[in-house]
Amino acid sequence: MESPAHKYPGAAILPRDSDYLMLRDTLLGYNQKRVGYPMQDTAMLQAEILRIREQKNAIILAHNYQRGEVQDIADVIGDSLELARAAAGMDGDVIVFCGVDFMAETAAILSPEKTVLLPAPDACCPMAGMVTADELRFARARHPDAAVVCYVNTTAEIKAESDICCTSANAVKVVNAVHEDTVIFVPDRNLGQYAARFTDKNVLPWEGFCLVHDRYTPADVSLAKQAHPGAVVLVHPECRPEVIDLADHVASTSGIISHVKSAPGNEFIIGTENGILHRLAKECPGKRCYPLSDTAICANMKKTDLVKVRDALVTLQPRITVPEGIATRARGAIERMLAL
Ligand code: 13P
Ligand code: SF4
Repeated sequence: MESPAHKYPGAAILPRDSDYLMLRDTLLGYNQKRVGYPMQDTAMLQAEILRIREQKNAIILAHNYQRGEVQDIADVIGDSLELARAAAGMDGDVIVFCGVDFMAETAAILSPEKTVLLPAPDACCPMAGMVTADELRFARARHPDAAVVCYVNTTAEIKAESDICCTSANAVKVVNAVHEDTVIFVPDRNLGQYAARFTDKNVLPWEGFCLVHDRYTPADVSLAKQAHPGAVVLVHPECRPEVIDLADHVASTSGIISHVKSAPGNEFIIGTENGILHRLAKECPGKRCYPLSDTAICANMKKTDLVKVRDALVTLQPRITVPEGIATRARGAIERMLAL
């Protein structure tokens, strides 16, 4: 009989329990910290940022999980796919990426002529670190006939080793678009398993996961439904399969927002990082959105604040660059996705 490690090529890299608990405690501790500027300075900082943005001919991109006051100064707010498209297509000399490292790297790969800034240089996606290039090459050697599909939540090096990239918005489409019958899907096991539901291909999900989405449980869904009977349950595909089974709709962050906007219902339980609630409250007035869990906060997404955005624009640092050799190969994987 095949062991799980045989089926999932990256099984060996699962964080040990103690690592997981340490990361969880860091995450929870971070949630209790407050931003270091008084509320009344928010408007002043925002005005200053918009003024410098004009001087530097910069565009500000913000992910749907960013702090509300950061989303409010962005030129584009979106999910990973929308932000990658914006980074590839927008004018400007400078991109200020309010998100995490792999997003800024993707922007730098797609727009090498632009200065790409990540205001919080330590804002990383832990899931992206759950697969290394050596491990992936090893998995490829064991499955030489398989295509490698990498989630955009990966390092540039992993993208360079992959045939095609995907995001949560298009993972099913991408998996179905490759010619091979077997797909090594890195690094998110939950997204890989979700895509596997909608294809005849043999999907081999890696063993990575998101520290935020993987923590939702079926009990969270039951409790939220008890508290809000009749509310529609929307979850992100990074959630565990047993949580996805209980959802009414599964979508990327922007897909969740579009669904709330267009669905006839009035009440929604939101199973993704809670930064999305800011946009939902602004863009869907009259609809009530409840978090599936109050602790669904991505500490890394919250590292960007207005002071860091302002300082990044003033100094044009910290800058994200990708070595050209890696960037060229990674660009291929991203552009194949964007072309679909
Ligand atoms: P989206 O592409 O759906 O915005 O998701 C990004 C992400 O990091 C989810 O945790
Ligand atoms: Fe990574 Fe999860 Fe944070 Fe998204 S929410 S950036 S997948 S840790």
